[in-house]
Parts: sequence; C-alpha cells; structure tokens
Amino acid sequence: MAAQVSGAEVERWYGAARTAAIAAAVPVAELDWLLLAWSDLDRLTLRLGTVADRPTVTLQAPLETLERQWQRRLGDRVPVQYLAGRVTWRQLELQVSPAVLIPRPETELMVDLAIAWRTEKWAAGALDDSDEHWADLGTGSGAIAIALADAFPAATVWAIDRDPKALAIARMNAQGYSHCPAPIPTPTPLQGPRCPSPLPAPDFPGDRLQFRCGSWCEPLASLAGRVTALVSNPPYIPTAELATLAPEVIHHEPTAALDGGPDGLDCIRHLIQQAPTYLRPGGLWLVEHMAGQGAAIAELLKGDGRYGSIEQHWDLAGRDRFVSAETLVIEASPIPPHPIPNQSI
Ligand SMILES: C[S@@+](CC[C@H](N)C(=O)[O-])C[C@H]1O[C@@H](n2cnc3c(N)ncnc32)[C@H](O)[C@@H]1O
Repeated sequence: MAAQVSGAEVERWYGAARTAAIAAAVPVAELDWLLLAWSDLDRLTLRLGTVADRPTVTLQAPLETLERQWQRRLGDRVPVQYLAGRVTWRQLELQVSPAVLIPRPETELMVDLAIAWRTEKWAAGALDDSDEHWADLGTGSGAIAIALADAFPAATVWAIDRDPKALAIARMNAQGYSHCPAPIPTPTPLQGPRCPSPLPAPDFPGDRLQFRCGSWCEPLASLAGRVTALVSNPPYIPTAELATLAPEVIHHEPTAALDGGPDGLDCIRHLIQQAPTYLRPGGLWLVEHMAGQGAAIAELLKGDGRYGSIEQHWDLAGRDRFVSAETLVIEASPIPPHPIPNQSI
C-alpha cells in the first residue's frame, strides 16, 4: 500500500538508517538502493541531500515497513537485491526473489563470450540462422536466456530450470523485459541498483523464448543433434564450502543453485556427458565455474573425447571462471564403392 510521507520524515529515517548501516558494516550504497526502489525519489536528490526539501515523498509502503525491510538487511543479512526485488544486469532490469540466484556481474561475461563465438561462426558461414537454437541450462531469473534472445534475434532460446518457482520468475522477466538505458556502475561486489528509468524493450516475437521445467538437457529431446549452443551457470560450490559462504548467500540464496556436490563438479560432469547428444557437430558448450576449477574441467572435456577447441576464459579480476568447447565434427566416412557384380555374357 503506497504511502505519502513528508520529505523531512524520510530524511530523518534515512539519516538514522545510514548510521545503522555503518555500524553494521553494510555499504551505505545499499540503503540508497533500497530507498530508490521503494520510493519516487531519484539518485540526484539523495546525492544532493535535498530529500527534506520535498513536501511529500511517495513510498510503496509506510515508512515503518521500509524500516522493517532495512532491519532484515542489517540483522538477518537478507541481500538488498531481494528486498528491492530487482537488479540491473547487463542492459536488463530483472526481478529477483529468494527462488532465484541473484545474477552476478561476472556472469555477464559469459554472454559476451557467447556473442563473440556466434559472431565468429557467422562470419565464417558456419551457422544456419533458420535453425538456430540456444539453451540456458539452469536459467534461474532468466538473465542469460533473455540476454541471448535479445542479442540473437533470429535464434530460438530455451530457458530451462528444474525449479518451477525459478522458471515463473524467468517468465515474468521475459514478459516485462525492459532495457536500462544507462546502467549505473556497481557499488558493491554484488550488483548495481536499479536503473533510473527502464525502457520497455520490444517483445520477443512468437515463441522465440521457450521455458521448460526439467533437468538440464532433458527438455530438449526433440532437438537432439540440432542445438547450436548450450550455455550454463550451474551450481558449482563444493558442498563442504557452502558453510563458508557469506550469510547473505548461504542463508538466503537457493541451495539448489549453489551446491555442486563433493568437488563442485557434479553438474558440470553431467553437462559434459549429456551435451554431445543434443549439440549439433561444432556446437558450443559454455559453462561458468568457480575460480580454480577451469583446468579440471578442461581435462574432463579432453578425456571425454567428443570435444575440441577447449578453452579457458578469465574474468576481469583475472580469475578462471569459464570454459568453452565445441563438439567435434566427425567426418562422415566415405561410402565404400559399390561392388560391381560380375557380369557374365
Ligand atoms: C547458479 S544458478 C544460475 C542461475 C542463472 N542462470 C544465473 O546465472 O544467474 C543455477 C540454477 O540451476 C538450476 N538447477 C539446479 N539443478 C538443475 C537441474 N538438474 N536441471 C536444471 N536446472 C537445475 C537451479 O535451480 C538454479 O536456478
């Protein structure tokens, strides 16, 4: 229920909330983020410190509710992204809830790697854009799938997740999909605040973005051997390391999005094993992983024998975070000459 509150009242609350943030070692930028998401205030007003000059501020809920939300951030360590209900990721405005992992800035690079791969293949005439299928396996909020569909207007993109609640958020994000005209730089290691005025982006025509609930590639059965690229940011944290994660992550983000089994590679092994059945020859396999896992994944791909062009990729902080490979193009064996039957005259 929206509430009208005087600027002076909001300013008083904001001052006290800032002091509490500093005491709890929570970045003050997160308070701005929450307030911007819950009110009609703009960033400049906060920066200039002129909130009190506003006769009224419209809040999405009474100030007491906003205070309770802020206490959830400080006391329960709920990520501000869940309290604000949205994040800016690449050029997209995405809704998030505790049903989905908060999309991370480094995952944006995976979309750049996918775009670079496609650009190269397109230039080499190696793509058939009348039959181009990309899949985002473990789509969560739909971030990767929506970014791919936005980047590749001729492709069909399949967004797959085992969790129906995550898939519901991904669908919502695709329906209300909007572009941020000028994303704001990230203020924390997590993700930046909402963009000032999202622009509605064109709808995905027809059924270009498909959502499927199921395990990894299984919903793609009808496309076996035809998928252009499989992209995934799967759960990859070794189970024993989960307890060492920040409380914001381990207590609030879905465990099913984090736990990668004893060495963190359970899902990745599965994707290596399953993908060649679905990818077309020369198709792209691209996965995000935890820093330090890249060499082991490259070895698993080599050992499988069905992949070539295996490459590790690093993030902007110089950490190995992605591995790509292509399914081998098996040369068709020449058809043996047809034996000519002895002809007797
Ligand atoms: C690390 S999150 C990635 C979410 C999103 N793609 C992103 O990058 O922000 C992993 C996702 O994989 C999904 N997942 C886990 N096991 C799965 C499975 N067997 N099949 C499909 N999705 C699965 C989880 O529900 C979760 O949404």
